[in-house]
Amino acid sequence: MENDVVLRVTNLNVFYKNRKRKLFSKKDKKIQALFDVSLEMKEGEVLAIAGESGCGKSTLARAIVGINRDYNGEIWQKYERPQMVFQDPYNSLNPAKKIGWLLEEPLKVDTQRKWTKEERKKRVEEIMKEIELPLSMLDRYPSQLSGGQRQRVCIGMALMRNPKVLIADEPVSALDVTIQAQIMELLTNLHKKLGISIIFISHDLRVVYQISDNCLVMKNGRVVEYGNTREMYKNPKADYTKQLLQAAGIRK
Ligand SMILES: Nc1ncnc2c1ncn2[C@@H]1O[C@H](COP(=O)(O)OP(=O)(O)OP(=O)(O)O)[C@@H](O)[C@H]1O
Ligand SMILES: [Mg+2]
Repeated sequence: MENDVVLRVTNLNVFYKNRKRKLFSKKDKKIQALFDVSLEMKEGEVLAIAGESGCGKSTLARAIVGINRDYNGEIWQKYERPQMVFQDPYNSLNPAKKIGWLLEEPLKVDTQRKWTKEERKKRVEEIMKEIELPLSMLDRYPSQLSGGQRQRVCIGMALMRNPKVLIADEPVSALDVTIQAQIMELLTNLHKKLGISIIFISHDLRVVYQISDNCLVMKNGRVVEYGNTREMYKNPKADYTKQLLQAAGIRK
């Protein structure tokens, strides 16, 4: 196995329990959400997962971070604990806790390493600088922050323990356009500075072009096309990719 591969997914099939199960039916029927998905990500790469709503992007992300456990196929990772940033910064922060507490928490529950109080404080301050928020905000509650500032906190929480892989699941789609651009810039800068590998999930093909090295296009739980982003946009192979690029106004 090459050294610079950080994630390899091979023939992944992911299942959910059927929610619409009839009351007296004995069989616990499953729904298959992903079919035979394979990918490979290198150190420092930004890999975009694109495709329409419901195609399975989040399902793939949740399988990689270990939230979706009902699968077969193989998920090989060089490093432990990829971190995830979710779409909705309004719902993903505990409203009862202050920003300082939220950022410190991942260090308190770190099983790999013991952090002293001083070390935790120092790390929290470091991260506040990375996410470009003033230290005065440590004493605020999530409700006292804007959407963009909350998403910065979510990114900060994900970065606290220095992950090698970050999965951002539509991290800007709940935000205003101008704020989207700011968060994208932050992610781009962090990527350059920290050299982390990023899986960037988006249905916005313009944003995908802006940030990713490679792109995986999905439809109905299957991979439709996968490869270098620039080449794919110039010369899409699958009809479905062509349609998506046309719909986004990128291709005529
Ligand atoms: N917990 C669940 N139980 C049953 N089915 C689910 C569950 N979560 C997702 N699904 C189904 O799996 C399929 C893929 O969903 P997923 O959330 O991965 O799509 P997505 O590409 O992330 O969509 P979006 O762009 O809207 O976030 C959908 O058909 C969805 O209805
Ligand atoms: Mg999703």
